[in-house]
Amino acid sequence: MAGGFAVSKSGADRREFKGKITWYVWICGIIAATSGLMFGYDIGISGGVTAMDDFLLLFFPSVYARKHRTKENNYCKFDDQRLQLFTSSLYLAALVASFAASRACTRFGRKRTMQAASVFFLGGTALCAFATNLAMLIVGRVCLGVGVGFGNQAAPLFLSEIAPAHIRGALNILFQLNVTIGILLASIVNYFASRVHPLGWRYALGGAAVPAAALFLGSLVITETPTSLVERGRDDAGRRTLEKIRGTADVDAEFEEIRAACDLARALSEEEKPYRRLMRPESRPPLVIAVAMQVFQQFTGINAIMFYAPVLFQTMGLGTDSSLLSSVVTGGVNVVSTVVSIILVDKVGRRKLLLEACVQMLVAQTAVGGIMLVHVRADNEPSRSWAVAIVVLICVYVSSFAWSWGPLGWLIPSETFPLETRTAGFSFAVSSNMLFTFLIAQAFLSMMCSMHAFIFFFFAVWIVAMATFVLALLPETKGVPIDEMVDRVWRRHWFWKRCFANADEARVNDNC
Ligand code: BGC
Repeated sequence: MAGGFAVSKSGADRREFKGKITWYVWICGIIAATSGLMFGYDIGISGGVTAMDDFLLLFFPSVYARKHRTKENNYCKFDDQRLQLFTSSLYLAALVASFAASRACTRFGRKRTMQAASVFFLGGTALCAFATNLAMLIVGRVCLGVGVGFGNQAAPLFLSEIAPAHIRGALNILFQLNVTIGILLASIVNYFASRVHPLGWRYALGGAAVPAAALFLGSLVITETPTSLVERGRDDAGRRTLEKIRGTADVDAEFEEIRAACDLARALSEEEKPYRRLMRPESRPPLVIAVAMQVFQQFTGINAIMFYAPVLFQTMGLGTDSSLLSSVVTGGVNVVSTVVSIILVDKVGRRKLLLEACVQMLVAQTAVGGIMLVHVRADNEPSRSWAVAIVVLICVYVSSFAWSWGPLGWLIPSETFPLETRTAGFSFAVSSNMLFTFLIAQAFLSMMCSMHAFIFFFFAVWIVAMATFVLALLPETKGVPIDEMVDRVWRRHWFWKRCFANADEARVNDNC
């Protein structure tokens, strides 16, 4: 099967890159994507663990007492800043780590950065599973966070760089598929671990060792990306790797394009450091889009569900068991719908998926908010049938997120920066994701306690904003080779073209 297209600056001479989709590409992709498994497991495990009595008794006795006071306000049972810090500390650490990870990616390569991530994952898992006090638990979460910062920086870039352009979306979404599998596995583990007393929570947190070890072993055998090799002056190794992953020696056109991108990146970074370069008008289109995709992704409210689904379902009147089981169901929907995205993303394109999902999420959020407003008051015993209706609506909501904002939040920022600002720019995407994940993790239970059902309308308003953003400012990037975004996408966009100089202008426009 043929690869992507090579295009000159004028867009006139369009050549197809040679090569097929090899097994080697898929295997490397699958291994790199296990970094997502780890991220997903961490996301999914904390909600279940914080609903376990043995865990609460040991680390958060006041929350345990409040949870078991029958008169407690439905919406406030779990509102505790320290409990939220257990979940959110990971994201704060990942935020800071993503900047170091960006440098590591450029200096040591994508593969080594993933290896470093797996070492942090293993250390963090051990600390959490054997924690005897809150400090040990939080330090463990911080180590896991550093792993997430490194893994989430390196893996999506790795996937976008090894993929032939026409399946880049599908290959990159392997990362998100693993995130969703990790979340699902975590909710299954939680379901069983909650029956094991008093050590169940230790097994749940310790289970992360499996994906961490898989990433560590896998990252010993995968290749480095051709781009990263050439970027670090190893042209011969880069060419050999390209031949291997494309399954042909006829890779001249693609190799030349990678080399040209690397030469340009090198020349530009001698002139100016990548982070400074990111502040120029020409860098604004991918930068604004990368940050906005992540901020919007978090303001869909997805992590209110992913972290706190068991807690949320208990708020609605389901018992501990049915709550954990319901989060297994939403986790399953999340995985299956991500596969839909893998199938569709390179056919229907990014924009259509994002816009369809906005409509579906808006309807589901508004309906959940409406039902909760009418049927779940602070002090009543909500009826089971309404709780089930809410679980169904949450599945509708999760499915649309899973084929759109979930995977595309990672895909689009990893494919739209030119090489000279790619790792630096992507680290802004990772850190924005982590910042807003942190805020939601830290604030959601308190927001639910003070806003009650209106929390869902709050997220619905954001969905309208993000649909408007996609319509106006997000160009389609389906099938465009990764090193041709500037000429084929940004310079041709009705708004973003203002960030670039015209051929006859000496200076760059700064009115974008
Ligand atoms: C997001 C996570 C979210 C997950 C849900 C990811 O793309 O970054 O914050 O929990 O999707 O599947």
